[in-house]
This record gives sequence, structure tokens and C-alpha cells, in this order.
Amino acid sequence: MSESLRSLGLGIIGVANQKGGVGKTTTVIELASGLARSGGRVLAVDGDPQGNLSLFFAPGGGKGSGGGAGTRMGEGPGRGAGRDFSDLMGDLLAGKVPRIEDYLVRRVRKGMDLLSATHRQLRRERSESDLLAVAPAFAALLAGLRASYDWILIDTSPSNGALERMLVRSCEAVIIPLEFQLFSVAGLQSILDEVNACTLEAGHGIRVHSLIFTKAENRVARVESYREVFSAFRIPIFEVCKSEYIPRSLERSRTIWESGPSSFAARDYARIIEKAFLE
Ligand SMILES: Nc1ncnc2c1ncn2[C@@H]1O[C@H](COP(=O)(O)OP(=O)(O)O)[C@@H](O)[C@H]1O
Ligand SMILES: [Mg+2]
Repeated sequence: MSESLRSLGLGIIGVANQKGGVGKTTTVIELASGLARSGGRVLAVDGDPQGNLSLFFAPGGGKGSGGGAGTRMGEGPGRGAGRDFSDLMGDLLAGKVPRIEDYLVRRVRKGMDLLSATHRQLRRERSESDLLAVAPAFAALLAGLRASYDWILIDTSPSNGALERMLVRSCEAVIIPLEFQLFSVAGLQSILDEVNACTLEAGHGIRVHSLIFTKAENRVARVESYREVFSAFRIPIFEVCKSEYIPRSLERSRTIWESGPSSFAARDYARIIEKAFLE
């Protein structure tokens, strides 16, 4: 029996790991664009105040005005309604009932919209209690978008605070990118504990759906024993091979589908889309 996200009816997916550099943003880029290419309606949410996802998909910042030098106003992707994630949080805190459409950058790729983060240092602007206070409203807003999108993918920052908890609470499922290292086991356990705590706060289930080992090198010794250790968690494991195509294509703002569709990394992400999402 298939346990894909689609067959489980789960569409709001967080990509989370409190560790940096494990491939969260890369995974959101390739999965979101890949799902859109396969005909899905996709919203990517940049939940990392560093804004790496936004830089990739909307280098103009998505601001209609006030974006400063370098903003390509009125040009192609990057042209948005002029408001971003940080503005949305501000409006939610002010008790407004925002129309989320007003905050999105449209069509960063065919079939794909973006809620961007434009270097506004959301974390510093908003206190922990503020973020937790708006968490239910934010979750309700995303839930309301489920009719408009097949998939909502949320990138998160390499941290473990109120912002990340707010984002995970609004998810129906979480995917965890990891590197094959023994000390990732402790990290994984702490993510699972964190998701459990969020489940209690959110009052609905949040399923840790799969682990993705990014930068997998099968030639490296001990990988088999790592696989065994991680399989004890009984969460489906996927792998994406270490590939020079990934950093090279990201540098050029190209997804793997655009820059290396026949690469091994594209094959691996395509398999995840098929098995974990669509099957
Ligand atoms: N499969 C891969 N093979 C090689 N490099 C990768 C792979 N996946 C990610 N990277 C590289 O690892 C670095 C960190 O990835 P990133 O997605 O930014 O991590 P995070 O968002 O978790 O901090 C980037 O330079 C990215 O290009
Ligand atoms: Mg990132």
C-alpha cells in the first residue's frame, strides 16, 4: 500500500533540520520546481529569514517598491505584490485578516508561486511570544490555501526557535534532510522530539514522512551501517547522491531540471517526487 503524501492526503510539507548546510533549501528548490513541472500547483514558502530560497527564485526581491538598488521592478519573476513573509507576520500581529494573495510572488516558475523572505531579519523583528501568538492564524492561512495549491513546501532555517516551531505547527508533514554521519542520529532524535512537541501545540498530527540523505556517497565506507542505524527510526529513507551539478546549477539560478535533467541528482529527486509525493 502506498504511503505517499498524496495518498495520505498531506499537502503542507515542511523541510526541516536545525542543522545548516544539510540541503534543506536545495531540497525545497528541486522538489517544488519538480512538482510544478509534473503539473502540480505549488507554493514555496521561504521560512528562513536569510532568504536563500527567495534569492534563488526571485532575485529581484519580489518587492514592487522600496526594494532598494538592484530591484528589477516590473520584470518577470521577482515582480510581486511587494509584500513578503515579514509583512504578513506584522499584519497578522496587528490583528488584520490578510489576503495571502497580496503577499505572494507569482509564477517564479510555471505552476509555482513564492512567499518570499527578503532579508528583513524577521527573527530579530519579532519576539518569541509574538510568533507563537500568530502561529494559529498563520496555520489557518496556509490551511485555507490548500484549495488553491496541490503542494505547499516550506523551507526553514537552521535553528530551533519560535519561528521554526510556528512553521512546523502549520505543517501536515515534515521531511528531514540529513547527512550520513553517525552524529546525525542525535540530531534526528532532537528533531523528532521537536516535531512531537509541535504536534501537541498544534492539536493535529504532523507526520515525519521521510528522511532524505543528501550528498550521499555510496563509495564511502560505513554508509551501510549508517543506513542500518537510521532504519531503526522506521521512517522511509531516500537518498540524493553528492553531485557537482547541484552547487553549479544553484549558482546559476537553475533548478536541476533546467540544468541537468539527466544527472544522477535529478534522477534521485525525481524518485523522491514519485515515491514520497505522488505514487
Ligand atoms: N546532493 C548534493 N550534492 C552536492 N552538493 C549539495 C547537494 N545538496 C546540497 N548541496 C550543497 O550543500 C550546500 C548547502 O545546501 P543548502 O540547501 O543551502 O542547505 P541548508 O538549506 O540546509 O542550509 C549548498 O552549497 C548546496 O549547493
Ligand atoms: Mg537553507
